Amino acid sequence: MALRVAVFASGNGSNFQAIVDAVQAGKLDVTIELLVCDKPQAPVVARAAGAGVEAFVFKPKDYASREAYEQEILAKLQEKQVELVVLAGYMRIITPVLVEPFAGRMINIHPSLLPSFPGVNAIGQALDYGVKVTGVTVHFVDGGLDSGPIIVQRALDVLPDDTADSLAERIHGVEQELYPQVISWIAADKVSIDGRRVTIEQ
Ligand code: GRF
Repeated sequence: MALRVAVFASGNGSNFQAIVDAVQAGKLDVTIELLVCDKPQAPVVARAAGAGVEAFVFKPKDYASREAYEQEILAKLQEKQVELVVLAGYMRIITPVLVEPFAGRMINIHPSLLPSFPGVNAIGQALDYGVKVTGVTVHFVDGGLDSGPIIVQRALDVLPDDTADSLAERIHGVEQELYPQVISWIAADKVSIDGRRVTIEQ
């Protein structure tokens, strides 16, 4: 049975699209049960419609608290029997309401080599710091900010004439290849966690 996945995103959705494309190309054996998005105007919402993926789109300010909208999201995930939550540019803190039921079953992609440059604008942070190498990290989600056990990292050289845009373009290219691949490893049950150490069966 194909793994049942939900994707959370707030913006452009290029990673969401890469996952959809991999599924449609027969390269990734999962079903995308739901897109969760906190920004009704985000391009990712139109991408979901185009791909025929059901979307739960909400406005955080319509809810009394973070926990209140997360309870609603949790109910949707349970209704759809989602087995893996994939954060792909979801720009909100996630509380134990969602983290605990999905411990070991929620992943995130971050555009730096963690633990360097967590949080927002990781690409700009890396450029401003002047690092010569940066990259992409895919990790399990725990209660902290970009702090969970690391599944895989890919390094990229920062070039002398890089701008935030040129570096972002290369980073996004790596992300769009890497994220569907990691999801396929999880779907094939090849990924195991032991404390902070994650092993991928070859
Ligand atoms: C990506 O760079 C991802 O690493 C970060 O947010 C960005 C989302 O881009 N978490 P997109 O919406 O998938 O195009």
